[in-house]
Amino acid sequence: MLVFKTSLKLKKFLNSKGVSVGLIPTMGALHTGHLSLVERAFEENDYVVISIYINPTQFNNLSDFKNYPQNQKKDISLLKPFSKKIIVYIPENKEIYPDGIKSNSYDFGSLDQHMEGKFRDNHFNGVATVVEALFKNTTPNKAYFGEKDFQQFKIIKSLVEQKRINTKLILCPIVREKNGLALSSRNKHLNSSQKKLASSIHFTLKKIKRIYDQYDVNELEKIFIDKIEDSKQLKVEYFCIASENDLIPIKNIVNNKNFRVFVAVYVGQTRLIDNIKLY
Ligand code: PAF
Repeated sequence: MLVFKTSLKLKKFLNSKGVSVGLIPTMGALHTGHLSLVERAFEENDYVVISIYINPTQFNNLSDFKNYPQNQKKDISLLKPFSKKIIVYIPENKEIYPDGIKSNSYDFGSLDQHMEGKFRDNHFNGVATVVEALFKNTTPNKAYFGEKDFQQFKIIKSLVEQKRINTKLILCPIVREKNGLALSSRNKHLNSSQKKLASSIHFTLKKIKRIYDQYDVNELEKIFIDKIEDSKQLKVEYFCIASENDLIPIKNIVNNKNFRVFVAVYVGQTRLIDNIKLY
């Protein structure tokens, strides 16, 4: 395993090898979901670069940024067993933001207007800025992202198209706990009883998937909220059903479109997101 802090050394190393590279951008606090991306990336590339950088500009809330879980030693120990060909890239702020910590401004049309884009001001400008910098600094052939952040994936796809970046994006399935809770670095903030309660998010999404053709979207939203907020510790921030193409929430589900349900739920102070496709 190799660890690089500068893109100069990283690029020099990779160029000297002339190999294919898969990138997994992360903010650390690695879990089995990240490791499944590493496995997938090794199936398709000679070297796998995993970046660890907690990106300040994608947080709309200072305490969320300050409390974001981090444990670099543990992250590195999880990655070590993989292969000698794993590269951990841990950039400093100036590597990503040479002109000061400020996000670029992008136009993603409808893709960043709803769900996370609506509830987390400037979040996707921050995500796109860091991903653009990471792509520039590592020049990957492929990059791997988890389906839990489906809206983020669509934003990055649009970024890659707009900037004509020569990297193929791979969307990988959500990895879940046995009880259905989607793996997330933020789960580290949950105690064991909150983890149990949070499993109702996926459970209720599956129920919505079973019954969606019998109700309109407002009724489905009410069913979801009533079930989730049965527990006083859980609070739904949003429930949206949107087409995968434009991510615009709809009120009535018509056939033959690829719809997905997107939710954000607070479990105590911890905000979790999840989604499920309806087709
Ligand atoms: O999904 C994440 O962990 C982050 O949003 C990403 C893509 C690493 C950018 O900071």
